[in-house]
Amino acid sequence: MSQQAFLRDAMRRMNFTRDTLAQRIGITRRALDSWLLPDESAETRKMPDIAQRFVLEILKSAPSYTQSVDSVRPGNGELAHHLLSVDGYTRDSVEALLRVADIMQPIARRQKTTRVLEGAVLANLFFEASTRTRLSFSSAFARLGGSVCDTTGFTFSSMAKGESIADTSRVISGYADAIVVRHPELGAVAEFARATHVPVINAGDGPGEHPSQALLDLYTIQREFSRVDKLIDGAHIVFVGDLKYGRTVHSLSKLLALYRNLRFTLISPQSLMLPQHLVESLAQKGHHIEQTHDLQSGLKGADVVYATRIQKERFAQEETLEAYSADFQVNQALINATCAAHTLIMHPLPRDSRPGANDLSIDLNHDPRLAIFKQTDNGIAVRMAIFATLLGVEDQVQYSLREVGWRVPVYLGAEDEVPYGDQ
Ligand code: NCD
Repeated sequence: MSQQAFLRDAMRRMNFTRDTLAQRIGITRRALDSWLLPDESAETRKMPDIAQRFVLEILKSAPSYTQSVDSVRPGNGELAHHLLSVDGYTRDSVEALLRVADIMQPIARRQKTTRVLEGAVLANLFFEASTRTRLSFSSAFARLGGSVCDTTGFTFSSMAKGESIADTSRVISGYADAIVVRHPELGAVAEFARATHVPVINAGDGPGEHPSQALLDLYTIQREFSRVDKLIDGAHIVFVGDLKYGRTVHSLSKLLALYRNLRFTLISPQSLMLPQHLVESLAQKGHHIEQTHDLQSGLKGADVVYATRIQKERFAQEETLEAYSADFQVNQALINATCAAHTLIMHPLPRDSRPGANDLSIDLNHDPRLAIFKQTDNGIAVRMAIFATLLGVEDQVQYSLREVGWRVPVYLGAEDEVPYGDQ
């Protein structure tokens, strides 16, 4: 395991911030930051063996935490080998998956390659529009050494000829070792899963769930919080926008609910509020919830602002809201007036940048708090972790790494940045 993955795993297991870990092992925060930089970064430093032994010593007293393969997989009973919803995750099992994602980072950042899925084939079936989800699932599978075949839209699939989901699913089981499905109807992906023994991953089922997006969002929150010494426990999370149809919010709110004492502020137009069953389940788990239509007051003190696009394509015929009024637009002036220097600004993307859409404003593009491309970059490592665990190769990855053979750009993106320029 890389030194970065080792240290991140240690902090996760002990629920330590960087400051706490640095203090416990008697080093400066600056030294710890330099150990956590990617290997190829010019500022990275090797952690001395003695420090590693010290961390291992502290870990011995950490609360029980299982790293078994089973715990990485959500326990959805008979559907345990699919990823249809985030419902089966516990805090331990989700963190174990994030640990596997850390192990994938050198591959996602193109420093290493692996062939652990050599010979395996992924079927990527997208019956709804997608750019990042479809391409990042393909890229993640390919970076594990597998290959990908796909189909896009109903028009070019046999469903246009009236074929059932069950028949389609059964047929594809003969071609592929994993199936990723995005479908406009709630429950359609589960129907795919029922007809096959090949692992099925829900890449979005209508207004239902989008588990892989929520996992990469959680991973991003945890990584970014770690840079500014925050824990997820106790955080103030603000969801803004179409909370009724936004499936990424549905899945992410459930994952965040696994942590302790969160404060959720839910800001949406009246007609697009978070479904009541999700609000109730957050409340049942002891989190504090406020629902408001007022962006200015709702954003105050946010640790995370998670904005979303209006899901017009899911509106019932009688629903008319075309775009947000300007009252729902998260922009630079509003963020400056309400949020602190370390607030994370997130969005699952795509954001609707057309005039009048009032989605997350592009005037935030140079704001270091904007984490949208950290989310997309992290999507590769997290989706690799999902495939590796569903197909049972996660323990082989670290022993299979080889150097890349091609020239890689020096600067890839988000991870190369100094944390908010203030460390
Ligand atoms: C989202 C989706 O499809 O649910 N996008 C994504 O997968 N990152 C959000 C959206 O379409 O607005």
